[in-house]
Amino acid sequence: CGIIAYVGRQQALPILLNGLKRLEYRGYDSAGIAVMNPDLTILKKKGKVINLEELTQNVTIVSSIGMGHTRWATHGEPSDRNSHPHPSHDKRLAIIHNGIIENYSILKQELLSKGHIFESDTDSEVLIHFIEDIKENLNCSLEHAVRVALTRAVGAYAIVVMSQDDPNTLIAARKSSPLIVGVGKDEYFLASDATPIVEYTNQVIYLKDYEMAVIRDNKLTITDLENNIHEPYIKELDIELAAIEKGNFEHYMLKEIFEQPTTIFDCMRGRLMANKGLVKVGGIREYVDQLANAKRIIIIACGTSLHAGMVAKYLFEEVCRVTVEVEYASEFRYRNPVIRDGDVVIAISQSGETADTLVAIEKAKEMGAIILGICNVVGSSIPRTSHAGAYTHAGAEIGVASTKAFTAQLTVLYLIALQIAKEKGTMENERFRRILNELDSIPKKVQKILDNSYIAQSLASLYLDAKSMIYLGRGYNFPIALEGALKMKEISYIHAEGYPAAEMKHGPIALIDDEMPVMFIATKDATYEKIVSNIQEVKARKGKVIAIVTEGDDAVKNLADHVIEIPEVDEILTPLLSVIPLQLFAYYTGVLRGCNVDQPRNLAKSVTVE
Ligand code: G6P
Repeated sequence: CGIIAYVGRQQALPILLNGLKRLEYRGYDSAGIAVMNPDLTILKKKGKVINLEELTQNVTIVSSIGMGHTRWATHGEPSDRNSHPHPSHDKRLAIIHNGIIENYSILKQELLSKGHIFESDTDSEVLIHFIEDIKENLNCSLEHAVRVALTRAVGAYAIVVMSQDDPNTLIAARKSSPLIVGVGKDEYFLASDATPIVEYTNQVIYLKDYEMAVIRDNKLTITDLENNIHEPYIKELDIELAAIEKGNFEHYMLKEIFEQPTTIFDCMRGRLMANKGLVKVGGIREYVDQLANAKRIIIIACGTSLHAGMVAKYLFEEVCRVTVEVEYASEFRYRNPVIRDGDVVIAISQSGETADTLVAIEKAKEMGAIILGICNVVGSSIPRTSHAGAYTHAGAEIGVASTKAFTAQLTVLYLIALQIAKEKGTMENERFRRILNELDSIPKKVQKILDNSYIAQSLASLYLDAKSMIYLGRGYNFPIALEGALKMKEISYIHAEGYPAAEMKHGPIALIDDEMPVMFIATKDATYEKIVSNIQEVKARKGKVIAIVTEGDDAVKNLADHVIEIPEVDEILTPLLSVIPLQLFAYYTGVLRGCNVDQPRNLAKSVTVE
């Protein structure tokens, strides 16, 4: 979900609506605002921000304070009444909330027995009624009531509260869900990420867990839940407005796919000096020894980031000779995992906020592991919880389906693996130098694939009516098959499964008939011959084969129905190239099927709930 709030001298409404549009990628089930007009007024609507905007056009709103929310439903279906903001029982308070209050049903029972009536099914509404109840019982200030409520609330939250009785005040707090304060000239912003703020100010404060911000009469005070004052630490944002706009592209996803030559280059900048045979990732400098001596590396992530981790397993095991395990964060956090001395955990996350990943690393950290974070969003929670790590520097990724962040994650993983391999002496020098040079030339090769994007586009028009698709790859390209299938599912709603190619004969082969498109990643590598046999098996059952091949590979061309060529590259680096046509194929299929590729149904960019 997304949060934006404003207090200052400007009219709040346009800032809130504009901010909500920028935040829509975080959730788009419903949207709402609260303003002082002059009484506390809530307007909210199911669906996209545009629906809310239409609603506001029927009302004259004059208010220089307000808050807005765009929702990704957790408790309660997407509907007008479950949208935020939620009012208190007496309607004198309102709240917007990201996260989950886990003990909400106990609190709700207590409040019901006191006569509270609830209009929604949400945990957030319970929280504002709870705050109201405390305020009445203790006859205290709103701030104090919020503090007391938050010490009793179990779960995750980023909240903003407004009050009819305190009309110039915004009260905000966070735990495990991001919230930042934007500091302008005589004005303040609150937001769940920087995107709705950058056009107004580049001065921000990242609130920490259990911190509360009170903005009253143009003065900001930050405290903890015990009311100790915390000195605000203002940081400068390094994103520019252009980076979060679509420019000439039809969709953010296409823009982000096409940015990859630049983002991969940016990610290597200052870290890879191929001509000198040097690779150094500054962020892990103090942990190079631990990584080099690690008995085991455990990679924890979700979604696309997990696929980057799976590539890293092949990579680290091959070039660094270390055992690597890759785990879904959501599974790791609820197991009783074995962490031994010398284990290093690498958490991979675009947003740096994914709740499952965050909790999993907190658990591993408590058990004594060293935690390194590979994240894209600067200042987000995972890098702050990690001992060290490296940013991917891909810039803001707005399209819900991750593309440029994935290739940037891979790039960082290559850089770290190569640095550690050098440190350990596990890679032959000549190969090490060659791979550095090849990595250096990846942006050019990615550009070459993008220059031929029309091939993926024309294939999309041939297969857009497919009911299902299978993606097959082996070795380094097995995780890419998973990623290609995930992109297709997310963007086009075509059912797609990724499998290790050889595993096909143990099940998926039963699905193959003359209507089933099968995407093979069949580049020239150690398992090339085997993959060619797998293609023959599919052709023998009349499946339609699309193959991603190394330039000039005529053998597969003669066998497959269609091929997409990618430039030749060392086997270990192929994922950086082979994923690009799969991103394009999914994108064009989604567009041709009329799907909203930037905001696919039911998905959210940053999943801050478990
Ligand atoms: C969501 C997004 C995916 C992303 C996953 C993990 O499901 O829609 O694109 O891969 O979360 O997110 P993270 O920010 O941790 O990489």
